[in-house]
Amino acid sequence: MKELIEKLMRNNYWKLLEMGGGGNCFVGTFATPTRTYINVDRQVDDTLRAEFLLLVMMGFYPLSHSILLAFRQIEKLAPNDNVREKARFFVEVEEGKLAASDWYRGVAHSELYRRMFSSLSPTPLEIHEQMLEQYQLALKLEEGGLARALVTAAFIEKTGLTVLHLLHDFVAQWQVCTGKPTSVVDLTYLNEHMLHEGEESADQHVCIIDQMMYECGTLAMQKEIKHFEVVTDKWLTHIHERVSRMIEPLSIKRLNF
Ligand SMILES: [Fe+2]
Repeated sequence: MKELIEKLMRNNYWKLLEMGGGGNCFVGTFATPTRTYINVDRQVDDTLRAEFLLLVMMGFYPLSHSILLAFRQIEKLAPNDNVREKARFFVEVEEGKLAASDWYRGVAHSELYRRMFSSLSPTPLEIHEQMLEQYQLALKLEEGGLARALVTAAFIEKTGLTVLHLLHDFVAQWQVCTGKPTSVVDLTYLNEHMLHEGEESADQHVCIIDQMMYECGTLAMQKEIKHFEVVTDKWLTHIHERVSRMIEPLSIKRLNF
């Protein structure tokens, strides 16, 4: 699992989110309202801004969506009651049943994630179902049994805090560059997760996942780790490449400018 996490967290996709002074080059290009480009086919306008946000959102969205399916799968295939009970807990967490407050109880975490990105966008963002399906068809969660579901859930939980920090950095930079005040940004996704995704105490999610994996006993994981790595690496690379193709003509003009 350690190698899997290291490999996937080196993917260029995370560079879209990562903090950079004055906004990283992606955020700086798509969010800054005053920047204009001479002699380019397309200016950075609200449509392009929403397209950029959609792509960034759809990079991690399939994983956010898959974790609920993975926990449902673990609950179904659990080898004992301890595992089943923990999987149920995570299903309820991801479904939003255990939300800290009533006003968003029952809203799935993947939907909170969408709402956060949508609140940054000049026009509302909807999930790109075809893109989601593309990842799901490659991952084939249901065909991999307990081991594939465990790898999927464990990867997402164990990288949770790092991903949350990256998402937080992205949101903060986007706010600064666009001048969007916090009052209009939906931070529920970040607020809901920040306190639970660490491993400082036994009730935090990484510790529960470790315990759950231990209680599953010995499983042949290597093949499933490789499968998840190949599928997810390809997906995140695909998103980064699409954004790079969008930014390329603008960046060249920026240098000439
Ligand atoms: Fe979650």
